[in-house]
Amino acid sequence: MAFQCLANPEGELATARAAAKAGVGMILSTLATRSIEEVADVGINASPAPLNWFQLYIHRDRGLTQALIERASSAGYKALCLTVDAPLLGRRERDQRNHFSLPSGMQLANISSLSGLGIPHSDTESDLFTYFAHQLDPSITWKDLDWVQSISPLPLVLKGILRADDAIRAIEAGAKAIIVSNHGGRQLDGAISSLNALPEVVDAVAGSADVLVDGGIRRGTDVLKALALGAKAVLLGRPVLWGLAVAGEEGVSHVLQLLRDEIDVSMALCGCRGIQDIEPSLLVQPYKS
Ligand SMILES: Cc1cc2nc3c(=O)[nH]c(=O)nc-3n(C[C@H](O)[C@H](O)[C@H](O)COP(=O)(O)O)c2cc1C
Repeated sequence: MAFQCLANPEGELATARAAAKAGVGMILSTLATRSIEEVADVGINASPAPLNWFQLYIHRDRGLTQALIERASSAGYKALCLTVDAPLLGRRERDQRNHFSLPSGMQLANISSLSGLGIPHSDTESDLFTYFAHQLDPSITWKDLDWVQSISPLPLVLKGILRADDAIRAIEAGAKAIIVSNHGGRQLDGAISSLNALPEVVDAVAGSADVLVDGGIRRGTDVLKALALGAKAVLLGRPVLWGLAVAGEEGVSHVLQLLRDEIDVSMALCGCRGIQDIEPSLLVQPYKS
C-alpha cells in the first residue's frame, strides 16, 4: 500500500520492521513514502532475511520505470509485483471531493529521488488521480511484460488478476505467480470479489504457478477459507494500515499476531494439523470444478 507515512511518521519502515519480526513478507509500493533502499536496510540484520517484494507501476517514462526495477533488484527485493488492475485510477469520489494530496514535507520517496517529479496539483481532481493520469502508462498490454522481463532479473508476479483466461495468459507470458485481487475494491465498483474469483483461477492455473489472494482478509477464518479455495498465501492491506495508524510498528505487530492466533485457532477447531490439511471439504459449500 502506498503513502504509509500518512498513517505514521515511520511509514513503510515500521511496517517492514513488524513484518520482518513476524517472519512474513512485505510488498513495497512504487508510491511508498519511504525509499526502496531505506526499507531494504530494515532487513539487513534480520534473520531469516525478509521476503520483500517490490510493487511496480509502469510509468510513461520507461527510463524511470527501468530505474525502479534496477534499484529494487540491487537492494535485494525477491520479486517484482506488477499491478495490472490500475493502468488508470478508478473514480474515487471521496478523494476527489477532499482534493486528496500529500501534506507538505511528505513525498513519493522512490519517484522524487529519481527525477524530481512531485505530484502535480489540480483544483478539481485528487492529486493521486492527476498523478496516475500524467505519469502512468494507460496503454500497457501483455507485450509490455516482455519488456519488463527483458530488463528485470526478478521473478514476475502479476497483481490484479480476476479471470481464468487472464491467469493462463499471465503464466504463458512468464509470470511465476498471480495475485487474485480487485485492488481492495478501490478500482471498479461492482468488480467480482477476489474470493469469488479465486476458485476459477486456481482451477485454470492447475498448479503451474502459485496463486495468492488479497482483499477483505480480516480474520483467521478468512485465511482458512482462502487456503481451502486453493490460495497458496494471502496478503493483507488495510488491517496493516489500521495497526500502523494506531501504534506504528507495534500496532502492525499486534495485527499480525492477532491474525496468526486466529489462524491457529481456526485450524485447530477444523482439525488441521498443518497447512496441508486445509482443503475444500472444510467449506460449507465446497467449490466444485
Ligand atoms: C491506502 C491504500 C493504498 C494502496 N496502494 C496500492 C499501491 O500502491 N499499489 C497496489 O498495487 N495496490 C495498492 N493498494 C491495494 C492493496 O495492495 C490491496 O490490493 C488491497 O488493499 C487488499 O485489500 P484489503 O485492504 O481489503 O486487505 C492500496 C490499498 C490501500 C487501502
